[in-house]
Amino acid sequence: MSRSLLVTGGAGFIGSNFCHYWLNAYPADTLVVLDKLTYAGNEENLKGCSEYQHFHFVRGDICDQSTLEALFAQHCFDTVVHFAAESHVDRSISGPDAFIETNILGTYALLKVAKQFWLEGSPVPSHRFHHVSTDEVYGSLGAEDPAFSETTAYAPNSPYSASKASSDHLVRAYAHTFGLRVSTSNCSNNYGPRQHAEKLIPLTIQKILNAETIPVYGNGSNIRDWLYVEDHCRAIDLILQSGDEGEVYNVGGENEWRNIDIVTVICEHIDQRFASDVSLANEYPRALFHQGRSSTELINFVQDRAGHDYRYAIDPSKCHDKLAFRPEEDFHSGIAKTIHWYLKQNTQG
Ligand SMILES: NC(=O)c1ccc[n+]([C@@H]2O[C@H](COP(=O)([O-])OP(=O)(O)OC[C@H]3O[C@@H](n4cnc5c(N)ncnc54)[C@H](O)[C@@H]3O)[C@@H](O)[C@H]2O)c1
Repeated sequence: MSRSLLVTGGAGFIGSNFCHYWLNAYPADTLVVLDKLTYAGNEENLKGCSEYQHFHFVRGDICDQSTLEALFAQHCFDTVVHFAAESHVDRSISGPDAFIETNILGTYALLKVAKQFWLEGSPVPSHRFHHVSTDEVYGSLGAEDPAFSETTAYAPNSPYSASKASSDHLVRAYAHTFGLRVSTSNCSNNYGPRQHAEKLIPLTIQKILNAETIPVYGNGSNIRDWLYVEDHCRAIDLILQSGDEGEVYNVGGENEWRNIDIVTVICEHIDQRFASDVSLANEYPRALFHQGRSSTELINFVQDRAGHDYRYAIDPSKCHDKLAFRPEEDFHSGIAKTIHWYLKQNTQG
């Protein structure tokens, strides 16, 4: 039976990859993207989706209850997949207001309208509100600490992670108090196509191609666990299909890297691409490689982010055991695909 999904934030990085993944897997489903198109949203990310008969894009704000009510009434959603958020930690330090509004009040508005339609109106046979959250809600780990599990206490350190933690608690409360059928995934750092250029991996790629310095915070020793975005989309699909209601799933790649090592790998990988494909010299004439130099020369350590969390790591046992989820990409295959995508984007203008 086909489903009717509301995907919030579907013009952003993970949301748009999810739309491509979902429409490819379930072409008969109705999929409505609601996205405000902030600086982070880009309708181009959804190029190709409108070829599917039941795909709709709506520009709007998740904080706007009347928009949500109209969409629920029109499309009788049975599933919400909630990606919309302000997502950049640095911006949450320089301007937290939008994080409180979208991440907390926006999630609250969505929960209110979902409750109104699914529990008080004419209920659909089954419903699910899936909330996409982050491992950052658990705070920071030391080098030897065990990875975050679903029972790790919350200890958010930035306005971003605090706002996501608040939204997680609201989702939990709507399940516990009102019986809304929810699930939450707390995921590690994603990488892959369609990510905004402000984030570490696309930023590094762009800087190498333009021969500009690559800023690396502190001494580059901060550690993150990285997951290829399509693997994240598959994990959400598994949670929707066979995850239990009310449950939280930590999704990770078992793939911890120091920031400086990530940047170095990307420099080396792109230099190898230049070496094996001479035609790229026409597209990227400024790249250091063409002067017989290494792109690693561009690395520039800059003043550390305020309150920078040292390490995040995910214990993926629950996803392995309960959902049989394992990432399909390892870092080397995933980063090769990612770099290939950015090179192609740039050469296509
Ligand atoms: N990127 C990661 O590594 C990562 C890791 C774990 C969890 N997450 C979570 O996944 C979700 C998606 O992250 P992303 O990296 O794709 O973010 P993103 O910043 O690339 O995209 C966010 C999208 O939400 C839209 N949006 C923002 N405010 C809105 C509002 N008020 N109403 C409607 N749309 C709005 C933006 O226009 C954009 O399209 C977020 O909830 C984030 O917290 C991200």
